[in-house]
Amino acid sequence: MSPTQLLFAVVLLGITGPAMSARSMEVFGMEGKVPKNHHMVTLEKPSKLLTDLRSFSTGTARELMSKRPKRSSEHHITDCIFMSSEEGDYFHKATVADGTVCGAYIFTEPDQNIEIYISYLNVPCENGGLVVVVDGWELNGEFFPSPEDHPRPMRTRMTELCGQKKIKKVFVSSQNVALIQYRMPARGSSFSFYVRFIKNPNPCNILFQTDDVYTLRNYGRKSNCSLSTLFPATVTVAALDVGLVPVGGLSSGPRRAAVIELETGIVHKCQMKGLEDYVQIGGSAGLDNNNLMVADTVCGLASKPGKHPNVIACDTTTVRLVSSGEYDNSVTVYLRQLDEQDINGFMDVVCLPDEIQK
Ligand SMILES: *[C@@H]1O[C@H](CO)[C@@H](O)[C@H](O)[C@H]1NC(C)=O
Repeated sequence: MSPTQLLFAVVLLGITGPAMSARSMEVFGMEGKVPKNHHMVTLEKPSKLLTDLRSFSTGTARELMSKRPKRSSEHHITDCIFMSSEEGDYFHKATVADGTVCGAYIFTEPDQNIEIYISYLNVPCENGGLVVVVDGWELNGEFFPSPEDHPRPMRTRMTELCGQKKIKKVFVSSQNVALIQYRMPARGSSFSFYVRFIKNPNPCNILFQTDDVYTLRNYGRKSNCSLSTLFPATVTVAALDVGLVPVGGLSSGPRRAAVIELETGIVHKCQMKGLEDYVQIGGSAGLDNNNLMVADTVCGLASKPGKHPNVIACDTTTVRLVSSGEYDNSVTVYLRQLDEQDINGFMDVVCLPDEIQK
């Protein structure tokens, strides 16, 4: 293993290590009901997720999907931490009844939402059997999108199911990631679900699996939208139009005179200058980017890429567009996974575990 690989390994393990810990249990609303001898999940084969995440960097979700033979749309979930970017039928049957919390992490393209239909459920509620459909991803008790930035309150983002019944409802995620968490304390318990991807005309929060370019927009709304990766990354602002063009366009209303139609370039420290619309670039140790360590805050009008990318050495790298609703904002960013050269160079933000910071 090269030092770079080792770094990535440690960084990734930072989030995947004790996945779905005690705090996930609270999320499940099961605290107190958990049997005494229940052992919290620690990933038995953490290298599995690591390997999966690595392989994602070889292509986009769509490419990964296209590589699969068309007929294999039936997925048997056997790994406790399971990831997929494919539409189709999924099935899980408990072969051991140890009551560990597991998850099927589904992701798709940035401009798609995920529809989940529970087609079969036979998970006895006794002893804490549970299937939870989550609008977003959860790791170590932290959520993406952050509860702060999600359009729906936390309690409506999780639907708990158990028993033996037909679930008529179709769950639709608000972004390109969704999660089915489950705990199966009885051998033979099983469930199946169907996944379909649908167009999201106004993507706000997005989780990237690979290096990519993306344009975040607010569609004239008062909203906070994030683009995050689950790897340390460099962030280059390729184009920026934030805090300048009033909602309704330049020609509407008296605000026109106030609009600076000149290219301002990338303006830094916008928040400190009292501006309400800005882009935060930074990183966080966990999945929740609400406690972002901010490397830079930018706004203005720029059609040329910034000279210096921000180097974010954190488990989660985030670009967050904060919009007051007064302006039509957009920011185009390029995120690339850190390489060895980046790690040996200057890093804007570091939130690595203590032992490898030196
Ligand atoms: C967006 O974020 C800002 C700063 O973090 C906060 O003050 C504001 O209330 C948020 N707006 C919405 C709609 O969540």
